[in-house]
Amino acid sequence: MGLVGAGFVGPHHVDAVRRLGYVDIVAVAGSTDASGQAKAETLGARRGYGSYQALLDDADVQVVHNATPNHLHYAVTSAALAKGKHVVSDKPLAMTTAESKRLVEEARRAGLVAAVTFNYRGNPLVQQARHAIARGDIGTPHFIHGHYLQDWLLKDTDYSWRLDPAQGGNSSALGDIGSHWCDLAQHVTGRRITHVLGDLTTVVKQRQKPRRSREAFQTGGGDVDVVDIQVEDLASVLVRFEGGARGVFSVGQVCGGHKNDLALEVCGSAASMRWRQEQQNELWIGHRDAPNQLLQKDPSLTPNQVKWLLTSTDRPVSGSTAPSRSTAMSECAML
Ligand SMILES: NC(=O)c1ccc[n+]([C@@H]2O[C@H](COP(=O)([O-])OP(=O)(O)OC[C@H]3O[C@@H](n4cnc5c(N)ncnc54)[C@H](O)[C@@H]3O)[C@@H](O)[C@H]2O)c1
Repeated sequence: MGLVGAGFVGPHHVDAVRRLGYVDIVAVAGSTDASGQAKAETLGARRGYGSYQALLDDADVQVVHNATPNHLHYAVTSAALAKGKHVVSDKPLAMTTAESKRLVEEARRAGLVAAVTFNYRGNPLVQQARHAIARGDIGTPHFIHGHYLQDWLLKDTDYSWRLDPAQGGNSSALGDIGSHWCDLAQHVTGRRITHVLGDLTTVVKQRQKPRRSREAFQTGGGDVDVVDIQVEDLASVLVRFEGGARGVFSVGQVCGGHKNDLALEVCGSAASMRWRQEQQNELWIGHRDAPNQLLQKDPSLTPNQVKWLLTSTDRPVSGSTAPSRSTAMSECAML
């Protein structure tokens, strides 16, 4: 694999593929030769490049991981597909719906794997909840609700490229973490969102922007400019799902004490189910006529179909009823 963009999340991509055990970390591209070389050394990659184009010319790179800031997602992913490389892009897929649609078309035409890292799908209890809901354990879902709250933008001294529409896009909190909630809700329930009605606001209207660039979540001194913020740092959204289920979720990055508080609850005609990222090894199951349950993550209680999805590293043996790896991948894909 070759990694483009080795800031906050890029190293997590490297860590994740290393755990697979069969992936060779060929190269890292940074925005300059010096940063590319330094990051390659830190991450134990064989080569460092000063541009993503140079990395794409490396014939040993078969899969490109795109962990650049949002404004580069389209250019890097599109160029990688054009060079015949499979792509794992970080979210959001692109800056606009039009760009995203173009990438979907380009990926289809190229016939390559093109996935987006909605990584919360990979949690064992998320897969278990998805399996249980598909099996009908909670009946028909009618209310799907939750939140994704963080606090790293609470102070006006907090700043990120995510707040600059030219680099992050016209949406900040919703695009950045609301995208995770929407994906999780759709993935777990198997129902797509059809309608939205949002109330978006900017709580911290002016921030101190550092003159020197910082990677995400870095803090520190140096000269700053006070800038007006146009994008939302707090939002609540009413949603409707296919099949008629209603929902609501809130996202905010200005909520003290909430570090990475992603929560999803699905209320159905028979029972309810809730998963929270900050208590990720517990799945709450709510009943009307029986005691509520708290299911602890336990491989021995995980259905085989879920175990297969979580542990398989290659294609299924012939005759297996488990979904193929490519099906699993395409479920993670842009579509
Ligand atoms: N899936 C998740 O949970 C998750 C978590 C964090 C970030 N992300 C996504 O990952 C992406 C990166 O976010 P981050 O927090 O790591 O940001 P970051 O600012 O920490 O890192 C971005 C890196 O890209 C580098 N870069 C900039 N221009 C480049 C270029 N032309 N060529 C090569 N490298 C370049 C920067 O120098 C920096 O090292 C964003 O799209 C973000 O939405 C996803």
